[in-house]
Amino acid sequence: MTLVLKKLFLKAILIIINIGAGQSCTKITENRYYSCMRRNLSYIPTSIPSSVQTLDFSFNILKHLKKTIFPVLSFLEVLDLSRCKIKHIENDTFYNVKNLTTLILTGNPITYFGPGCLNSLHNLQRLVLVDVGLSSLQLQINNLTKLQELRVGTNNIQSMSLPAFMSTIKDFSLLDLHANNISVITTDHTAVLREIGRNMTLILSSNPLLYIEPGAFKDIYLRELNIRSAFVSPAAQKAGLNALYGLNVKRLMFGKYRNDYKILSSDANYLDGLCFINFHEVYYYMKEKHVVPVNIFRCMINATIVAVKGGIIREIANVPFLKIKELYLISNQLDTVPGKKLAHLHTLEKLVFTDNVAIQIPDFIDMRSLQYVDLSSNQITLTSCCSFFSSTPQLRYLNLSLNPQIGFSIGPFDGLDSLEILDFHHTRVVGMGPFFSNIKYLRYLDISYSSITFINIYCFYGLKNLNVLKMAGSHFQGDVARYLFNNLTFLEHLDMSYCRVVELHPNSFKNLQRLKLLNLRGNYLMTIDFLALTNLKQLISLYVDKNSITSIPLHVLHSLPTNLSELDLSYNPIDCSCSQTDFILWIMENQNVLKKPDNIFCKTFSPSSDFRATDFDIDSCVHKKRLTIVLSLSFVTVVVLLSFLVYRFQFYLQYCCILLRGYRSPGQQECSYDAFVIFSSYDEDWVMNELMENLENSVPPIQLCLHMRDFQAGKSIASNIIDEGIMGSRKVIVVVSQHFIDSAWCRFEFELAQSRFMMERNANIIIIILEDVEETKTKKVFGLHKHLKKNTYLKWSRDPLSNMRFWIRLRKAIIATNQ
Ligand SMILES: *[C@@H]1O[C@H](CO)[C@@H](O)[C@H](O)[C@H]1NC(C)=O
Ligand SMILES: *[C@@H]1O[C@H](CO)[C@@H](O)[C@H](O)[C@H]1NC(C)=O
Ligand SMILES: *[C@@H]1O[C@H](CO)[C@@H](O)[C@H](O)[C@H]1NC(C)=O
Ligand SMILES: *[C@@H]1O[C@H](CO)[C@@H](O)[C@H](O)[C@H]1NC(C)=O
Ligand SMILES: *[C@@H]1O[C@H](CO)[C@@H](O)[C@H](O)[C@H]1NC(C)=O
Ligand SMILES: *[C@@H]1O[C@H](CO)[C@@H](O)[C@H](O)[C@H]1NC(C)=O
Ligand SMILES: *[C@@H]1O[C@H](CO)[C@@H](O)[C@H](O)[C@H]1NC(C)=O
Ligand SMILES: *[C@@H]1O[C@H](CO)[C@@H](O)[C@H](O)[C@H]1NC(C)=O
Repeated sequence: MTLVLKKLFLKAILIIINIGAGQSCTKITENRYYSCMRRNLSYIPTSIPSSVQTLDFSFNILKHLKKTIFPVLSFLEVLDLSRCKIKHIENDTFYNVKNLTTLILTGNPITYFGPGCLNSLHNLQRLVLVDVGLSSLQLQINNLTKLQELRVGTNNIQSMSLPAFMSTIKDFSLLDLHANNISVITTDHTAVLREIGRNMTLILSSNPLLYIEPGAFKDIYLRELNIRSAFVSPAAQKAGLNALYGLNVKRLMFGKYRNDYKILSSDANYLDGLCFINFHEVYYYMKEKHVVPVNIFRCMINATIVAVKGGIIREIANVPFLKIKELYLISNQLDTVPGKKLAHLHTLEKLVFTDNVAIQIPDFIDMRSLQYVDLSSNQITLTSCCSFFSSTPQLRYLNLSLNPQIGFSIGPFDGLDSLEILDFHHTRVVGMGPFFSNIKYLRYLDISYSSITFINIYCFYGLKNLNVLKMAGSHFQGDVARYLFNNLTFLEHLDMSYCRVVELHPNSFKNLQRLKLLNLRGNYLMTIDFLALTNLKQLISLYVDKNSITSIPLHVLHSLPTNLSELDLSYNPIDCSCSQTDFILWIMENQNVLKKPDNIFCKTFSPSSDFRATDFDIDSCVHKKRLTIVLSLSFVTVVVLLSFLVYRFQFYLQYCCILLRGYRSPGQQECSYDAFVIFSSYDEDWVMNELMENLENSVPPIQLCLHMRDFQAGKSIASNIIDEGIMGSRKVIVVVSQHFIDSAWCRFEFELAQSRFMMERNANIIIIILEDVEETKTKKVFGLHKHLKKNTYLKWSRDPLSNMRFWIRLRKAIIATNQ
């Protein structure tokens, strides 16, 4: 089975197991936090350990709660039973989970609460009864002495009057009554609240309030009052605000949730009620438009934080704010930044003027405390920034992002020595020079997507304290990037994504010893070799996803910073071939470091197919490698063997060549001898004295070829045997003796002779038996035994008569020509 198939198989098994395990819960923190959310369970699984502290049991089916439903879970503190279709809760239901501090019963259609069922939860601090069909706040919770929060939103409660005992619960601090059916609030209803006399948070938003009895909230202290969308009509709201006189509240939130931009009738006194409420922070979610100009801020002059969001305001009147520290004017379609109107406000520290339509920035005159100015998401187009802030020496934060265009004049940040955070992202910056040189405390600079092309290597020259530099979408001329960051020794976060960088010089980051995050996403990098040479010891995160990296050499991977715990390599055209097994193996083994390892795909020929690098079958490469090794080994063996054979049988081969040549032109073969004599040198005496004497000196003389006489000097013996002897003679005389049998040379010569005449008649080989040789011994010489059996041979004898006959027969045999 291939690796891919194995994986698929495992996945299938896992899916099957998961279906079977659908009833069980997810362990989020061992022994402490378990989630059984959406498991369609009708009981608490026994797999939950008794040590559990938090149990999310939402979206199951419990219906009827009684004592036996919960096992003893003494340590359970947080129990979420949201939307479990619970209808009925018996008296002793929570007997086994007495130590609960938080109980959430949101979204259950509870029709029956056992009287006192909640009273056993003596430690309860948060009780959430949102959307459970409650029609009254008269709950039996008098024993919940530790209760802090009661959330009863989205019910059908018509009166906000609390049970009297609530005033004795000393930590009680939040009552959430949003989205109920409260239409009337009288002094009686607030009696307990007044008695509590503590800084409570009261949420009355989204109720259909028609009427508040004037003075109902007089002398009540609240930390927060939320009355957003709490009135049935603008008129009811106006009257309601008036009726709230005498209330002391830290944070007042009013206005609306919905964006209906209702046009209000011409009532300039609409917000006058606010003048008699004592508040510190006011949040007005406007979402409406006044026909006549209403001085929204008239009754807010004593507040420290003022926020107006989502309205339609055309103009802001002069406001003599007395204590204001923070002013938020967000999404109000204002076309002018109220710089001049706020002049000389020595208390203002923070101005947030975002999502409006201002096109210019006025001078901010004499605002000594102003530290934070956010003018992002407007329509601001500037030709010369940023002298407007020359009298705000404390300015630390300036956000001009998401505006159309900003041009810089000479020394744009002169006098703004305190600037720490500067954001221009998605605002076109015109004329980028070394402007930041004097902002020595700057920690954060965002110039992403500001259409900047860096030409000057001194752009960041003075930014010795810069921590974060975001410059996504910028471009660099030439090798400016190599020197640009040289002075940024405190930089920890550098975002150079989508900068069209093709390659990086190792020296680019040589001084960034503290760099922790380097984002190079979406460039055209083909290698990250520069990392092997830079000394980024502190680097923790490196993003090189969406580049053109096909592989990373092993030495670079091994020299990655030791602290690196997040490397994003996804969406690169990884070369998944057997030559890259080291790299792919590294990917497989380092998935804990790799961010989104499942998105590392192999480069394939069809762009539509996604093949994950982690699915690459390395085993097949091992097989291929083995096969290659085996094949080359066998090749070498064969070559060695062949060379040995060639060496061993070189004479035969040589002979074969000559033979082939000979056969090609048999007619041209010219013989200089009548017979070549094969004999052992031990028999030389007989050959010289008898054979030579008798044949060469007779008439006609027979020319013999004798090796010691006729072989050419300087030629190898083998070629002599072949050229002179066998090829140069018409016949071959073989002198067989005991010595002949024992001589390797003789045997060789005889074999050659046989092979030469193989095609011709054997009559060309004349055998002389010089002395008797045992038959078994003749078998030692290839072909001799057979030859002797098939052909007549001459036998030498010392007897003179037979001797004479021998010479006559021999001479005849030599002279006889082959027809
Ligand atoms: C939930 O469980 C009930 C029985 O307890 C069963 O009838 C129902 O089909 C299950 N629903 C799902 C979505 O599994
Ligand atoms: C209940 O919680 C308190 C602390 O909140 C702890 O001291 C006590 O031991 C717990 N009771 C049980 C039965 O676990
Ligand atoms: C529930 O408990 C209350 C007091 O804690 C008791 O008065 C009431 O009778 C009990 N109801 C049932 C059905 O046990
Ligand atoms: C409520 O507290 C009282 C006294 O502290 C106690 O007698 C009573 O049993 C408690 N009720 C419940 C339901 O625990
Ligand atoms: C809200 O209360 C009024 C009476 O104040 C009642 O007529 C109306 O039906 C209630 N609305 C709902 C949704 O219960
Ligand atoms: C309520 O808050 C105000 C100001 O935040 C503080 O002066 C006052 O003491 C607080 N009252 C209580 C009862 O906590
Ligand atoms: C502001 O506070 C002063 C006293 O500090 C008070 O006289 C004045 O009425 C307050 N104005 C508003 C609009 O609340
Ligand atoms: C600047 O404002 C933009 C838009 O409101 C916001 O996304 C960005 O986070 C702000 N910059 C800083 C540094 O707070």
